[in-house]
Amino acid sequence: MDLTDLYEKGEDLLRQKDIGVLLDGVETGFILDHDRRVLDRYTFSQHCIDAVEANTGCHVLGVELATPAIMSAMTSPIPAIADDGLIQVALGLKEAGSLMWTGTPIPQNLKEITETGVPVAANVKPFEDRKKMFRSIEEIQEAGVRWVGIEIDSGQGTKIRDQIRATGCAPLSLKELEEIRKKVSLPLIFKGVLSRVDAMKSVDAGADGIVVSNHGAHTLDYLPHPLQVMDEILATVKGRTVVMVDGGFRRGSDVLKGLAFGASLIGLGRPILFGLAAAGRQGVRDVIDGITQELKRIMSMVRAPEPSSVYRYILIED
Ligand SMILES: Cc1cc2nc3c(=O)[nH]c(=O)nc-3n(C[C@H](O)[C@H](O)[C@H](O)COP(=O)(O)O)c2cc1C
Repeated sequence: MDLTDLYEKGEDLLRQKDIGVLLDGVETGFILDHDRRVLDRYTFSQHCIDAVEANTGCHVLGVELATPAIMSAMTSPIPAIADDGLIQVALGLKEAGSLMWTGTPIPQNLKEITETGVPVAANVKPFEDRKKMFRSIEEIQEAGVRWVGIEIDSGQGTKIRDQIRATGCAPLSLKELEEIRKKVSLPLIFKGVLSRVDAMKSVDAGADGIVVSNHGAHTLDYLPHPLQVMDEILATVKGRTVVMVDGGFRRGSDVLKGLAFGASLIGLGRPILFGLAAAGRQGVRDVIDGITQELKRIMSMVRAPEPSSVYRYILIED
C-alpha cells in the first residue's frame, strides 16, 4: 500500500476505536495544524544537472540504520491496535532498517522486542516517585535497549484535549539529570527540548543526544514546531550532542527538511500507528520504506549524496 492509502486507511480505522482520541492534541489542538503549516513553509532548490546517487544510510550513537526516519517514542495505543502490535512494529521497523522507540508504559515484553534484533530506544517519564523512575531506568537497560530516553517535557504529565492523561510526574532538575547520567551506561537522550537553555542544560548534564520535540501536542498547548527553534538550539549545542527532531513529519520531503535544519534523525509518531492499523507489520515497514524512497529521490535532485550532506541552502522559505 502506498503512503497516502496507509495514512487514510490507518487513521479511519483508529478513529473508529476509543484510542482514536489519542491522535488529537492538547486543549485547543492548535499545535497539530501549526506543525503542518511550518513544514509547508519550505520548498526545495532543485539541481537536475549532475544529480547524485543518494544513500539514506546513517550511523548514529553506535546504531547503523538504513534511513534517518525512525519511530518516535510511543507504547500506549499499540497493544490496543493489535495484541502483538509491539512485536509487529518491531519486525516492520527492523525490515525497513529503522529504529523502534518505546514510550509509556514501558512494555512488559521489552526484552522480547529487543530480541527481534531491531535497535530499540526506550523512554522513561520523570515519575514523581523517583525510586520508581530509577528502577525503570535499570529495567530498560537490562532489557537490551541501545539508548535510554528521558522525557524531560513530561514534568506536568500529558494532556489530550481537556483531559490530563499521564499523572504522577514532576519536573526534573539539572542535578537530577546529572544523577541519571551517572546511572546510565548507554547513550542517554533527553526528549522534549524546545529551547536553547534546555539544550545547553542537557549538554551540561551529559546528554549524548536530544530530541527537539513538542511531544506530538500531548503536553502544553501553543508550543512551537521544533524547526522553529532548531537554529537557536544548534547554535548552542552543535557538535556537542546528537540532535534529533519529531513533530508532524509525514513524507520523505518532510524528513529532508528536518535534515536540512541539522537534525541527524527524524521521528515519526502517528504514521507508525497508521501503518500498523492499516496493514500490521507490513504497514509499518511500508511507512518507513515509502518515506525513505521519497527521501532518496529528492536527495539525489538536491545533490545530497547522504543524510549528513543535506544542507540548509536546499530550502527556500516562503
Ligand atoms: C498516541 C501517542 C502516544 C505517545 N506516547 C508517548 C510516550 O509515551 N512518550 C513520549 O515521549 N512521547 C510520546 N508521544 C509523542 C511522540 O513520541 C512524538 O513526539 C510525536 O508523536 C511526534 O509527532 P507525530 O505524531 O506528528 O509524528 C506519543 C504520541 C502519540 C500520538
